[in-house]
Amino acid sequence: MSKSVLISPSILSADFAALGQAVRDIDEAGADMIHIDVMDNHYVPNLTIGPAVVKALRPHSKKPFDVHLMVSPVDALIPMFLDAGADYITVHPDAGPHLHRTLQSIRAGGAKAGIVLNPGAPVEQVDPVLDLCDQIMIMSVNPGFGGQSFIRSQLDKIRAVRQRINASGRDILLQVDGGVNPVTAPDCIAAGATSLVAGSAVFKGAGTYAENIAALRGTPASQVA
Ligand code: DX5
Ligand code: ZN
Repeated sequence: MSKSVLISPSILSADFAALGQAVRDIDEAGADMIHIDVMDNHYVPNLTIGPAVVKALRPHSKKPFDVHLMVSPVDALIPMFLDAGADYITVHPDAGPHLHRTLQSIRAGGAKAGIVLNPGAPVEQVDPVLDLCDQIMIMSVNPGFGGQSFIRSQLDKIRAVRQRINASGRDILLQVDGGVNPVTAPDCIAAGATSLVAGSAVFKGAGTYAENIAALRGTPASQVA
């Protein structure tokens, strides 16, 4: 099985009454990271998971917790998610007054720092902070909900970020989030993505979790152990 693209299943699409089990199941099924969507009913019109839940989930997997903060203002929450055991913390540039300082604070706290661009955000937003990013995420839906359709115009942005990462020579994950499924995943990978977030396609896909994760990597179900 190709491991070249990382898969970060979003537990937003899991059974919220059994999140610990969901995290254990996707860990065992081959997830590379666990994507946790934090929404505050202010930055986005939805309300999901806070640091206490992340902390409670932490013992259920040793895989990196990939925490996507859709909250504003973001800064005061960062220490809480660091304490909860986040490995990656990814923030939206318009979620606080000083993006550069926010990214510095994530790294100072010992986590990997990420920036995420909404579909309406220009690619140039990554340029001043590229040296502070361990991960750049491109949203291929508008943030707030799982199960939305992939916005194909974002493929150009993925390609543009890929060029910037290559030119920088830095080791930065290029992640795509929203509407990623076995049909859209190859386009994301061809555009230069190295990490794919998927909620519906993993938790509500046609196969087992292992088959659904493998399908995102381009591996047919018949080859999944
Ligand atoms: C949307 C979230 C996504 C979402 C993806 O705001 O950031 O991570 O869970 O869900 P799917 O894969 O169903 O589009
Ligand atoms: Zn997300």
